[in-house]
Amino acid sequence: MKIISGPSSQELAFRVSSILNKKISLIEYSKFPDFESYFNINDEINGEEVLIIQSTVQDSDFINLLQLIDACNVAKKIAVVIPYMGYSRQDKSKVIGEPITQRALARSINCDELYTINIHNPSVLDYFTSKCKNLDSAEIISTYIKSLKLNDFCLVAPDLGSLNFVEKISTDLKCKYYFFEKTRISGTSISIKNKKFDIKNNNVIIVDDIISTGETVVGISQILQKNRNFESIYSICIHPVYSRNAVTKLYSSGIKKLIATDTIEKIQSKITVAPLISNEFKTNI
Ligand code: R5P
Repeated sequence: MKIISGPSSQELAFRVSSILNKKISLIEYSKFPDFESYFNINDEINGEEVLIIQSTVQDSDFINLLQLIDACNVAKKIAVVIPYMGYSRQDKSKVIGEPITQRALARSINCDELYTINIHNPSVLDYFTSKCKNLDSAEIISTYIKSLKLNDFCLVAPDLGSLNFVEKISTDLKCKYYFFEKTRISGTSISIKNKKFDIKNNNVIIVDDIISTGETVVGISQILQKNRNFESIYSICIHPVYSRNAVTKLYSSGIKKLIATDTIEKIQSKITVAPLISNEFKTNI
């Protein structure tokens, strides 16, 4: 199997290749004068099984993924891992005239097997024609939380959408968890129902799937700050989009530490999903 590292997931692809003990194929990247991207896979892929790893955070990441899949047209089998799948929150059309963007993208991604990690709404995987698998990072995240060796801690789900995930981690960690109810007003604005919890002397860990503008976690942090007797607030997310000034906003709201996985490669990506991905391919080598 050849590992093809897309431009947005180079570190993660290297980690996967190290676990699988496989070399990464070198890709030549460049831009044409009109800013179109050019790729060339400098490796023999004819008749090979290939594994392409590329998160799709920016629109250009989608184009690059399509280019890599097309370049592998001569391969025997194409497996694609999209650790963070952009547009996964555009999963329905509320009025006629609105696209289901996730469906449009799914229709363009043709491969034999597709893997992603904790996609926002797993039902969108039905839009893909290939075999799909949504990998779950809950165990990896709970192992990381254990490694923090915090004294008393509890988990917080910022909305009902993240409740299942938080419940699963808290069962593994045997710790308390609480949840909030959030209503989204627009892409940049939300409202959160105020609630009071017993977080006395606790380290509070807010766990969400995606952090984009940071509004959700900032809102929770502000509510928690009213309870002055907690220890510290941590924020853990799977997909650190951290758009605009999210990182500064999160720290300014009193969060002690931002922690994320490497589905999107950021300085806060302390948890790697490489073992999760590698496990899927160990038997294929
Ligand atoms: C939404 O339902 C997700 O689970 C996240 O809570 C949301 O994407 C976070 O977005 P933001 O950081 O912009 O509040």
